[in-house]
Amino acid sequence: MPDFVSRFLFNLFFGTKRQAFASLPGPQPGILGTAGDFLGPQQPWNVCARYGREYGGVTLIWMGSTPGLVLNDPTLIEQVLDSRRMEFEKGSVQQVLGPLRTEHSLFIALQNGDWAALRRRDPLAQPWTPDWLATQVAPMQQAVARFVDAHLGGAVVDLAPVLRRLTFDVFGIALFGETPPDSFYEDFMWLSHVGDGRFKAKIPLKFVPLPKGFETVRNRFFKYCTDRVDAARRSPKPDAVDLLSRTLREVPDFPDEALAHTLSLYFPSGVFSSSTNLVGALHQLQMHPGAEAHLASESFEFSGGPPTFKRLDEARWVEAVVLESLRLLPPVRLFMRTPVKDMELAGVPLPAGATIMISNQHLHRDPAHWPHPDTFDPARWFDGGVERDPIGSGHFFPFGRGPRMCMGAEFAMVYMRTALATIAARAKVHVESADPYKEGFFHGVVLPEGVHAKFVRR
Ligand code: HEM
Repeated sequence: MPDFVSRFLFNLFFGTKRQAFASLPGPQPGILGTAGDFLGPQQPWNVCARYGREYGGVTLIWMGSTPGLVLNDPTLIEQVLDSRRMEFEKGSVQQVLGPLRTEHSLFIALQNGDWAALRRRDPLAQPWTPDWLATQVAPMQQAVARFVDAHLGGAVVDLAPVLRRLTFDVFGIALFGETPPDSFYEDFMWLSHVGDGRFKAKIPLKFVPLPKGFETVRNRFFKYCTDRVDAARRSPKPDAVDLLSRTLREVPDFPDEALAHTLSLYFPSGVFSSSTNLVGALHQLQMHPGAEAHLASESFEFSGGPPTFKRLDEARWVEAVVLESLRLLPPVRLFMRTPVKDMELAGVPLPAGATIMISNQHLHRDPAHWPHPDTFDPARWFDGGVERDPIGSGHFFPFGRGPRMCMGAEFAMVYMRTALATIAARAKVHVESADPYKEGFFHGVVLPEGVHAKFVRR
């Protein structure tokens, strides 16, 4: 149907409804509203960023005849994610991930349900968590060093899947004190593909069946984790530094199943995003030899002494490279929210269930805020840069904002910094192409595609 006919029909049927939204700019709706923009070839975060450039901080969208908003305005984003957060839920994300999670999942817990209780209980939210994190630098470094040594002088590899498996293994060591077996990784990936299919479904989820064998794989995935908890209860290791052992020592009455499920769900929440960040950083470093040289010399120094948290903290270039990759290529670029009841936002009435999309893609590169926004420049984080744009602030929110910000942000930062410093000290990662890579979307996270590289001994 020609565009003008489609627009005419929308106005014919919904013209009166549209009047209440006349104050807001946005693309012209056709008979499907403006949803077509999100069904085309452009990734959804690029659509949100384009709206930010074309329409400013608030863009009115139409999902069919239901109005919605794309937010690129820090003040409104703060309201939705923080000060007025009780008025919203995650909506479609809860439906997508529901079958893959359990009642212990913080990620999809209802804001107006048991989210706050789950968050208070989470092992990563305890007063002793920073102390536990500090104990992880050494085992993480060892695991990454083993990985690099095994790849030195080897074949060219596709970085995203290889670093994803490394990240998965390091998480296994940090959480359960052991490298997980291949079968656990295979179940994890199988389930993640199911989740990805649900994220990308173009029809209502009630018509998307779960694949054959789903229950079996799901039960096996969680059983690996409940078995770890059983074993740790039966034979406690007083000196073990993994999060499971530490939690059982600190909170002996933590219910077994809740603990197993909480820890197991850190894998899908953090493995894709953390490994995507490492790929982005290594790709940028290839194009910026000056930054790479700084990182290498600092990493060499870090790796020459005991792998303590204090020494990791002193490695400022390592931190700056991670922050700059999170700014330029944030692994999670789209946050969804929906009003729990009819309400008002940005001066317009929104019905319960309306779509609100928030992306960091535009604000992380806003030229009014960041000098040379498209340039990878880790040095911008020195001389007060970290304090000017702290994690979770208006123009830098790779982990989200407000009390519902990523539970694993600190853990992810320690892992990504340790991994980069360990890789850079032992190997020069030769990325084959400096061209921008294609960004896919997997399980809600950006997936770098076709970034091939080899690890060359320093
Ligand atoms: C670079 C790595 C990571 C990035 C960029 C990232 C990003 C995010 C973002 C943006 C959110 C908020 C989503 C929203 O508000 O809709 C989130 C939530 C969450 N993340 Fe992460 N994440 C990372 C690593 C991790 C890791 C390593 C873990 C676990 C160990 C983790 C666990 C969680 C959990 C449990 C939530 C839900 C928190 C809640 O609802 O209260 N993440 N993450």
